[in-house]
Amino acid sequence: MTTLPQSQSPDDLEFGPRRKSFDIEDALASDWHGGSAFVTAWFNAMSLLFPLGEKFFIDSVVHFEDEIDDPRLRDEIAAFRAQESTHRVQHQKYNELLCKLRDYDLDRFEKNERLRMAWAYRELSARRRLAGTVANEHITAIMAHDMLSHDDVLIGADPQIANLWRWHGVEETEHKAVAFDVFLAVGGSVSERRQALLLNTFFFFKDTMRNLCIMLQKEGKLWSLREWAHGFKYLFVKPGILRRIFGAWLSFFRKDFHPWQVDNRQLVSEWEREQEESGQTSQGAA
Ligand SMILES: [Fe+2]
Ligand SMILES: [Fe+2]
Repeated sequence: MTTLPQSQSPDDLEFGPRRKSFDIEDALASDWHGGSAFVTAWFNAMSLLFPLGEKFFIDSVVHFEDEIDDPRLRDEIAAFRAQESTHRVQHQKYNELLCKLRDYDLDRFEKNERLRMAWAYRELSARRRLAGTVANEHITAIMAHDMLSHDDVLIGADPQIANLWRWHGVEETEHKAVAFDVFLAVGGSVSERRQALLLNTFFFFKDTMRNLCIMLQKEGKLWSLREWAHGFKYLFVKPGILRRIFGAWLSFFRKDFHPWQVDNRQLVSEWEREQEESGQTSQGAA
């Protein structure tokens, strides 16, 4: 029996987890993104969603592993799992340090996400949960693409924390199609993934903004017009990260969409070259 290829990644794409360490403790205690409470809280709020979210992503992909015949896609599932597992470890460390240093309540930040995941396990089929992962991987991949292709996203940020975010963005770029290809291989439909993107985009912003507001409230800046004006400008005007990713977000609704229609591997190699030049080594990269 011949096995049809199910992976649609570029032929020479190889990836795996990198062992990295980031010295972020001192910076996390402060508004590490150029002194802006809003933008710092925006990134911190996303980090707080990652450990639980990435566990959900891994589980939803690995659930279908036995149904995948293509050895290449099976290898990519293993690499996806390994990368997301290291992201979970780094962001868990980030989140625990952040909460300790700034006296935040980690359980409170994770509460809504835990409840929604319990709902997803109770009410949704495994394929719908995988569609949710495909949607979230699209959101992370397009944000990573924007961050890696524009210096202004992390301009003024603490260099070590910026490095952590860029490392995560690089690996999200490398494995951006794994969940998508598994979803196609197990018969996932266009309408399932379209619905999933709408729903997951809503919850991604709802949870991020909720966490951001909790942090601003704790800092006594929830009602600061200056912070909100600066945050609005950062998200929608200059650099305008959400404005810039809107077209890429929309492209997911095309019937024939595939994440590798945008071949952005050069962003990974540029980052690798910069790491070498600055003497930062990655052990264990494929
Ligand atoms: Fe990740
Ligand atoms: Fe991912």
